[in-house]
Amino acid sequence: MVQAGKPLFAIANWKSHKTWVETQQFLKMMATLTIPQSVKVIIAPSFPYLKNASQSITDAKLSLHLAAQNVSPFPFGAYTGEVTAEMVKDLCQYVIVGHSERRKYFHETHQDIANKVDLVLSANLSPVICVDEPYLEAQVASLTNVNYSRVIFAYEPLAAIGSGEPDTPEHAQTIAQKLRELTAPSVPVLYGGSVTAANIKSFTQMDAINGALVGGASLDPQSWIDLVNQLS
Ligand code: PGA
Repeated sequence: MVQAGKPLFAIANWKSHKTWVETQQFLKMMATLTIPQSVKVIIAPSFPYLKNASQSITDAKLSLHLAAQNVSPFPFGAYTGEVTAEMVKDLCQYVIVGHSERRKYFHETHQDIANKVDLVLSANLSPVICVDEPYLEAQVASLTNVNYSRVIFAYEPLAAIGSGEPDTPEHAQTIAQKLRELTAPSVPVLYGGSVTAANIKSFTQMDAINGALVGGASLDPQSWIDLVNQLS
């Protein structure tokens, strides 16, 4: 059983997938979704679609929220190609920060991620901070003077991402508890890595886990609906 009243999050991390037409078709299908009060369903499309997706959600009165997949580690300034937290603050409520693909392909450091977290919080948005076991303590240590009331963590073990081989719910629970000890007792912790409709419940039934950050299984609208329905 999913614990009654526990805040739950299902975040669709679309990465660099989908055209605007596909995004529109996906959002249209979300009209059939019944989302319980305690569940926040969050879609993270690419930057160019945030504005129109936000408008479509408002127009169709969908109970969906939006996240950016990244932001600049700098504020406004001479940083060609970067998108600041201030630029997206009216378009979304959440920002995924420090995904392992950002670390791997764009060489983001703990300090870059800490800078992003500060800027996201200053823009009154909630950062979804991705972490993994080998650097849990080091990443948390770099987050100085952070007010955790708007922070969400996502524990994403590298080997589980896109592999079809998720971590065990018991181990994810241990990491979630450790993250709370290191940060704040009530900070939401999500699990990410090969989550599907078939296994999401095994994670959310762990009392320290508040939902999932989902890549592959969030791309097909029906597969996403099936996954979110598991949270009812
Ligand atoms: P996956 O990706 O669900 O495809 O494993 C998760 C993620 O990268 O956030």
